Amino acid sequence: MSDSPPQRSLTEPRAWQERPGLIAVKPPDLGEPWETECAAGPTVEAKRVAEAWRVVDRPGTLLLTGATGFLGGFLLAELLAETDARIVCLGRASDPGALKERIAANLTRQRRTFDPQALADRVEAVVGDVSKPRWGLDEPTWSDLAGRIDTILHNAARINLANSYTRLKPINVGGTLAALQLAVTGRGKRLHYVSSIGSVSARWYVELGHAYENDPPRDLDGMNGGYPQTKAVAETLVARLGRAGMPVTIHRPGLLIGDSVTGAWEADDLLSNLLRSWVRFHAAFPFEGDLDLTPVDYVARGIVALTTTPASVGRAFHLVNARNWTVPQLLAMLAELGHRVEMLPYEDWLEAAERLAFETHDPRIGAAVRLFPPAAAAKHKTFPLVYRIRFDDRDARALLEPRGIVCPPVDPPLIARYIAAMDLESGR
Ligand SMILES: NC(=O)c1ccc[n+]([C@@H]2O[C@H](COP(=O)([O-])OP(=O)(O)OC[C@H]3O[C@@H](n4cnc5c(N)ncnc54)[C@H](OP(=O)(O)O)[C@@H]3O)[C@@H](O)[C@H]2O)c1
Repeated sequence: MSDSPPQRSLTEPRAWQERPGLIAVKPPDLGEPWETECAAGPTVEAKRVAEAWRVVDRPGTLLLTGATGFLGGFLLAELLAETDARIVCLGRASDPGALKERIAANLTRQRRTFDPQALADRVEAVVGDVSKPRWGLDEPTWSDLAGRIDTILHNAARINLANSYTRLKPINVGGTLAALQLAVTGRGKRLHYVSSIGSVSARWYVELGHAYENDPPRDLDGMNGGYPQTKAVAETLVARLGRAGMPVTIHRPGLLIGDSVTGAWEADDLLSNLLRSWVRFHAAFPFEGDLDLTPVDYVARGIVALTTTPASVGRAFHLVNARNWTVPQLLAMLAELGHRVEMLPYEDWLEAAERLAFETHDPRIGAAVRLFPPAAAAKHKTFPLVYRIRFDDRDARALLEPRGIVCPPVDPPLIARYIAAMDLESGR
C-alpha cells in the first residue's frame, strides 16, 4: 500500500464497466431510497453510552452471532483461546442443545482445535433467528441478554451473490438493526459489526480506485448486487449509533479463503468452488480484475484482537491482503503445482462445466456453475467478487502487526494446502 494521502479526484474515472468481459453492474434493488434505508435504527440515551464506555477494555460476556458459519467458527475458537469471556452464541436450531451440537460440529469441520471443557463451560447457546424482530427472542430472554451482555459481535449474515437487496434485507439489515436495539437496551454494550469490503464498493470508490478505512459507504450506486448493498446499509446504521456516542467498531474483511495453517476451507462459497472446478476439470475462463484473497484465520485473529483493543472504538478496519491476485496469476501458481488449467472462451467453459457437473453429480461443481449466468447472458458476465478498488488497511496493520498478527501471503504452498485439505487430487 502506498503512503499517498487520500485523493478524492474524480478527474480520471476508470470506465471499467464499459470494457468487455467485466462485471455487469446490476441496478440497485432497494425498497426505499438509500437515505431512507439508512435512517432507521434506535436512538441512544446518554446513560447507556456512559455505561458502554466502561466496558471497552475486555469482553466479560460476549454475544456472537453466526458461530455455525465459516468465519464464525474461527471467531469462536479464537475467542475461546484468546479471551476469558463467557460467550453466548445466538443461532438457529430446534433447541439450545442442538445448537451447541451444530457449533461443536462446525469447529470440528473447520479443523479448529478447541478445549471441549471450555466449550461446555464458557459457551451458552441461545436459539434465535436474526431475520426476525428482536431476533425471535421472547421478552424474558431478550431482557436477560440485554442486562448481562457487555459486547456484541454481530457476524451472522446471508451471503448470496445472486439475491436482491429486498430478499437479503431481513437478515443482513434487519438482523443488524436488532443488534443495535440490543446494544442500547439494558446495560451499555460495545458493538462489533462484521461488514465487508463490499460496503465501500459503490461506483464512487471504483472511480476513485481506493477506499480508506475511515471512508464510509456513500451510496449503493454501481454496486454489484444486493449483498454489498445490504452490508453498506447495515454498516451505515451501525456508524450512526457510533456517531451518537456508542462504542462501535466496524470490521471489513476481504474475500475469505481457507485457513492458512491447516488448509481447511469448509465453506460453500464461490471461490472454493472455483478452485475446485479449476483443479477438477482443468479449465477456466478469463475475467479481468483483482481478487482480495484473505485467509479466514487472519481475519478471525484480527477481529478478536480488535475486540480487546480500546483504540479500535469508533473506527472501521480493513482486514485484507496486502497483495491482490488476478485469475491468470492464480492459474500460474496452480501450474507450478502441476495443475495445468486451460483457458477456454466463456461459452466453452460453461458447457464443459455443466457437462462435468452432470456427469460427476458433484454438487459443488454444480454450485460453481450456477453462479455464472447462462451462455445467452455471457456478453455481460457477472463476477461479483472482483473489486477494482484498493482497500487500504494501514489502521488495521498498525494495531495488529505489533501483536504479531499479519496476513499470510497467497503463494503456491498455501494453494497446495487448500488442494490437499479439499482432497482434490484423489479425484473425489
Ligand atoms: N465469506 C466472505 O468472503 C466474506 C467476506 C467479507 C465479509 N464477510 C462477512 O462475514 C460474516 C460471516 O460470513 P461467512 O462467510 O462466515 O458466512 P457463512 O459461512 O454463510 O455463515 C453465516 C452465518 O450466519 C448465520 N445466519 C444466517 N442467517 C441467519 C438467521 N436468519 N438467523 C441466525 N443466523 C443466521 C448462519 O447460520 P446457519 O448455520 O443457521 O445458516 C451462519 O452461522 C458475514 O457477515 C459476511 O457478510 C464474509
